[in-house]
Amino acid sequence: MPKLALFVNGVRQETESAAAMPLLWFLRDVLGLTGTKYGCGEGVCGACTVLEEGVAVRACQIDLAAAAGKRYTTIEGLSADGSHPVQRAWLEENVAQCGYCQPGMIVEAAALLARKAAPTPAEVESALGDHSAAAAATRASAGRSTARPGAPASARPEAADDHPARLPPSLRAAGGGC
Ligand code: FES
Repeated sequence: MPKLALFVNGVRQETESAAAMPLLWFLRDVLGLTGTKYGCGEGVCGACTVLEEGVAVRACQIDLAAAAGKRYTTIEGLSADGSHPVQRAWLEENVAQCGYCQPGMIVEAAALLARKAAPTPAEVESALGDHSAAAAATRASAGRSTARPGAPASARPEAADDHPARLPPSLRAAGGGC
């Protein structure tokens, strides 16, 4: 199987994983970067948000073929010690609730502040308003499909030979959730 290469948190990663494997699975199950969460698997909840070339994207909606050659930053890559300004502000303002959606929201907020240091409330709402912890946790625990509506069978994650089930392997034993 041909190798694919991409950069994650500044490190070049080569893999022989299936080209159809979602980036989210690669991050969690191959690299062990479990800070990026699985929620809906449909690009809706934002739990899987990472930076692609500095832009916030949903890792469940990007396969390795599309990710090849690009640079990604996960919650683990924002800072080595939790000292990113958004992470510090999250603690100082006591933002966290259940915690499941926090990595995706922090990464999204970091992307927003990188492109505009003082966003308006409307811009904050636009960037973060569709992140949904409830949707993420509920759908993850229910083991809902990760297939995008209307996606051809060949594009579905389960088409990847080494990942026949829909839920990322790292979450199957726990039945979803954190
Ligand atoms: S948007 Fe990717 S898991 Fe919900």
